[in-house]
Parts: sequence; structure tokens; C-alpha cells
Amino acid sequence: MSKNRIVIGLQWGDEGKGKIVDLLAADADIIARFQGGANAGHTIWVDDKKYVLHLIPSGIIQPKKECYIGNGVVLDPFGFKEELEFLKSQGIDYENRLWVSPAANLVLPFHKLIDAVEEKTRGTASLGTTMRGIGPAYVDKVARHGIRIADMFNPDRLKKRLELHRKSKDRYLDGSDDERADLDRTYYELIELAKLFEPLVVDVPLRLHEAHEQGKCILFEGAQGSMLDVDLGTYPFATSSNTTAGGALTGLGISYHMIDEVVGVVKAYSTRVGSGPFPTELVDDTGEKLRHFGDEYGATTGRPRRCGWLDLVALRYAVRINGVDSIAVTKLDVLDNFESIKVCTEYELNGKRLQNVPLDLADLAHVTPHYETLPGWSDDTTGLTDFKSLPEKAREYLEFIAVDLKVKIALVSTGAKRRDTIFV
Ligand code: GDP
Ligand code: IMO
Ligand code: MG
Repeated sequence: MSKNRIVIGLQWGDEGKGKIVDLLAADADIIARFQGGANAGHTIWVDDKKYVLHLIPSGIIQPKKECYIGNGVVLDPFGFKEELEFLKSQGIDYENRLWVSPAANLVLPFHKLIDAVEEKTRGTASLGTTMRGIGPAYVDKVARHGIRIADMFNPDRLKKRLELHRKSKDRYLDGSDDERADLDRTYYELIELAKLFEPLVVDVPLRLHEAHEQGKCILFEGAQGSMLDVDLGTYPFATSSNTTAGGALTGLGISYHMIDEVVGVVKAYSTRVGSGPFPTELVDDTGEKLRHFGDEYGATTGRPRRCGWLDLVALRYAVRINGVDSIAVTKLDVLDNFESIKVCTEYELNGKRLQNVPLDLADLAHVTPHYETLPGWSDDTTGLTDFKSLPEKAREYLEFIAVDLKVKIALVSTGAKRRDTIFV
């Protein structure tokens, strides 16, 4: 029987989770998203067709798989509708296999407006958010005046809740000529959108529980990466949700009994988009070369990603806090282009060597990375599907990572397409 797996990113997002979820979804019956929102951009290539998903679980690309969006997700109903239209245009049939929790909070146009205003207010200390309204929507959720999917089906309640926002957010909304500040318009649009959501809303915890009892296999799809977790990441340079494995339980209302395995997705080097500490960042030709060969531009915002060598100190932390059983290493092929490859194995902070992240993750901005240099393989690994056919030096690189992190390598990705994969 296939295992119930949580698939999460172990770095700063964009590790290639979309591709890995799509692949592992082949063995699952159900794929469920538990946190984040349309800040995510998950890319899946099937032959020459490219799909980028933001809110809808990556499992939707595999025919007949059931997909769930949990209460932990913040859902932009407008973006959701657009994504459905995109899927339809691509001939992907999602009818009767996509379900949404009524307890998911909505990301509304005014949240995006607030995201933009707050980023501007932060000035040089801006977080570099995706401007998808994620932070402001989670703020409302935690402050207990969020608007949930269930509210769309109750016009009176919806109106009252929007009126509360009109009062409490007056400093953003009053006098604004931005159409996103128009709450009357939002109200009427939501009443209209409610028709789309009504048939999709189900009791997600109950459905998943029943599916589990029936022996069905569930894959839990994470968004962002562990170092962006609001509690455990490089706060305040983080997103606003729990991106780590624990988020799957609270974000879907499931029990730990349902989890068999945690799979961490690791890019063969590091990237980060947006602000915040990044110890192994390379702001030189090598960083530029990683960006060029890795095509490191955001799937959601198109922003160039910051690039650097693999950081085993940060990864040891991510493996520990998530209880990672195995890893999927992606973008190995990008390293084909380097004669030698560095891996950060220690930090130095105030004259002391550290094998683990410092107590205060903000100190990641002050550590000096220490590297081991491994020989490159200078050979084309693109599209390889057999571990034995990898150049010896590439296998040594992978083994170096697995031994250090004390995890199994379950999968190696050697290209963006589904078939460019080694199952180890
Ligand atoms: P996600 O957010 O973790 O799903 O990752 P993104 O989709 O934002 O970014 C990963 C990018 O790398 C996408 O453009 C993928 O198509 C691409 N990709 C994934 N795996 C590989 C790989 O093994 N090799 C190469 N060259 N590209 C890959
Ligand atoms: P996927 O799922 C990479 C980053 C933003 C910013 C910070 C806060 O594709 O891996 P937010 O809009 O969430 O308030 O932004 O988090 N960020 C991501 N970086 N991949 C993502 O998602 C991200 N989602 C958010 O760039 O630094
Ligand atoms: Mg992405």
C-alpha cells in the first residue's frame, strides 16, 4: 500500500515541489493543500506542456485524483476562478474531484491593497512579499475577523463582516480611489462567486478521515519552504503560515496517525526570492551562472531569484523540525555547468564555529559560511532516469548530502519534465 506523505520544501521555497507532488501523486488517491495561498507558484511540465498552479493542488494535473484545499489555506476566490478557467482551457477536467474547506479564510482585494501599502511603509525594510495579500489575510484570520468561504453563503453575515472591515481598515480604505478599496463591489462580487463555491464545499477533515479508513492514499502538498515558516523561519522575513510538516495537521484537521512519511524537497543549490538573510548567497558571476542555468525567476512574480550554494547547516535544521524521512533532490542538472561545487557545512558567528543554526535565526544575516569544495562532474545529466548512469562525482555529491542530513534520497530530478526523474 502506498504511504501517506507530506511533501514540503526544506529551503526558501521554489525547490521544485510542484514537479515532485505531480510525480508522487501518481501513487496517491488524494492530494491536499494545507497552507499558504496564491503566493505559491508550482510548476509542472508534462511533455511540452507547462502548468503553473498557485492555489489548486498540483495533483489536479494527474487525471482522476481527488484534490482538497484545507482550512489552513488563504484562498483568493478571484484567483481561484481564474485558475479553474486556466485548467479548463488546458483540457484538465476538475469536475467532481476538487473540494474546498468552508473554514478557509478568503484573501480579498483589500488585502492585496494593504499588502502593497504595508510594503511601501516598510521602505528599505520591506519583506519583498508576493503582493498576493497573504499577510493581511492571515492577520485577519488570527485577529478573528477574517471572512471565510462559509460567509459567502450567508449574505447578511458577509455584509456585517465587511462593514467591520470598513471601520477597522479606514486608514487604508477611506478616500482611496483604488478599486480594491471598494467593499460594496467586493460584496456583490462575492455573492456572485458564491455560486461557484457552493458545490465545492465539503467537510474536509471528515472526508480525509473516511478516505484514510477506506485505505486510500493521501499526499499532503506544502507550499513555500521551511525557512519561510512564520514560527520557525527567518522571521520577520517569512511568510505568514506554518510551512513545516505540522502545518499539514492543523491546516486540514487531520491526525498524526494519518502521516507515514515526510518527504523534503531540496534544490541542489539554494535560492531565495524576496528579502531576508541568506548565508550562502552569491552576488557574483557564480550566482549569476546559477540563475542563468537554473532559470531562476519566480513562477508567481517573475522576480529574479537570489542564488547561492547548498546550505547544509540550514538543511540540518529543516530536516530536524520536520522529521524528514527522505528527500527529493531537484535541479541536479543545473550543477552540470560547474567545475567545482561548494557546500556550506558550518557557519562562523562571533569567532565561533556552528554546525547548527544560531539561537536567533536573525543572526543568519551575520554568519560567515564555511564551505567544503567538491569536484564537479562537467557532464550532461539532463533527463537521466537511472541512478547508476549518473557521473560518479554527481553520485558522490548526492551521497555527501544524504550522509550529512542522515536521510534517504528517494528521488533525484534531472530536468523540469515529469520524465526527467531518477527514482532511487
Ligand atoms: P515550487 O514552488 O517548489 O513548486 O517550484 P517552482 O515551480 O516555483 O520552481 C521550480 C522551477 O524549476 C520550475 O521552473 C520547474 O519547472 C523547474 N524544475 C523543477 N525540477 C527541475 C530539475 O530537476 N531541473 C531543472 N532544470 N528544472 C527543474
Ligand atoms: P512556492 O510555494 C518562494 C516569499 C516572498 C517573500 C516572503 C513573504 O512557490 O515555493 P508573502 O507573499 O508570502 O507574504 O511573502 O515569502 N514567498 C515565496 N518564496 N516560493 C514561494 O512559494 C513563496 N511564497 C512566498 O518572496 O520573501
Ligand atoms: Mg514556486
